[in-house]
Amino acid sequence: MQTLTFSNGDKMPTLGLGTWKSKPGEVYEAVREAVNIGYRHIDCAFIYLNEDEIGKAFSDLFAEGKVKREDLWITSKLWNNSHRFEQVLPALKKTLSDLQLDYLDLYLVHWPIAFHPHVLGPKSGSDYITLDEIPLIETWRGMEDALDAGLVKHIGVSNFSIKKLKELIPQTKHKPESNQVESHPLLQQNTLFDFCRSENIHLTAYSPLGSKDRHPSLIAANEPSLFEHPVIVSVAAKHNCSTAQVLIKWAIERGTAVIPKSTNPARLKENFAAQNVPLTADDMQQIATVDRHFRFLTGDNWAANGSPYTVAGLWDED
Ligand code: A2P
Repeated sequence: MQTLTFSNGDKMPTLGLGTWKSKPGEVYEAVREAVNIGYRHIDCAFIYLNEDEIGKAFSDLFAEGKVKREDLWITSKLWNNSHRFEQVLPALKKTLSDLQLDYLDLYLVHWPIAFHPHVLGPKSGSDYITLDEIPLIETWRGMEDALDAGLVKHIGVSNFSIKKLKELIPQTKHKPESNQVESHPLLQQNTLFDFCRSENIHLTAYSPLGSKDRHPSLIAANEPSLFEHPVIVSVAAKHNCSTAQVLIKWAIERGTAVIPKSTNPARLKENFAAQNVPLTADDMQQIATVDRHFRFLTGDNWAANGSPYTVAGLWDED
């Protein structure tokens, strides 16, 4: 299995299992099945509201001797309602307790957006706290403390732009080592990817298959389909594989980690087998032409209902 190496030598398997939208009642079996298939990287987050069930799967897998803790790479993310310095460690400890772990391999600041502590999903402008009130460096100090306390092996961010990274990095004691962002052939993120590489920050691609199982309120009318894109379809036909496999192998081949979500045993297997699809330089070049800077996750939901945040300010793009 291909890996990305961190500066201390730790290796993150490039193919991970996404667990956003994996329902309680399904995610236990999905994690067990994935580990049995060979997945060694599981991507979690507090706000997926399924960490306790994933923790039960880990605990049972370890007890049965199927796999050891050190064989797995486990990521989780700090939710937006815990950005105050003094909230970070308690939030992390809740995640560790739910996942039944002593440490995480990677802990990420989920979004550069803050909410009041009682808010899981904001309903009005007053649910938000601006980044002037809680600067990202305050949250980051909490992440650094978690690292220094040995509760996490690596710390990073998610949904951060080059501008936000450039502002944050000079203020840090420990630099972010990872940025998890939406990425697929329609949103290749080349500029961000190049910047992150120059700063030794690994990129992880979320929504690599277009996250069609999003809540309908997050789905725009007339969204393009990655699975039906003619270039992806023709590369898949050439290799006699599925379009999902082309999307996954493309992400691995260009040097990002990638976390396709599935709770279906056949698709978990199919996605894992994507690693063996022999994409050529010519295939990669063809797929490079598909980029449209198109986001499935627009961020509109964080800028609605009187929010002090804007989409332009979130991505730092016009
Ligand atoms: P399911 O969980 O039923 O397999 P993303 O990783 O971009 O968030 O996309 C996840 C969505 O893609 C889910 O709806 C998931 O459904 C579906 N999916 C996962 N793997 C495949 C695959 N190999 N072929 C088609 N759809 C897939």
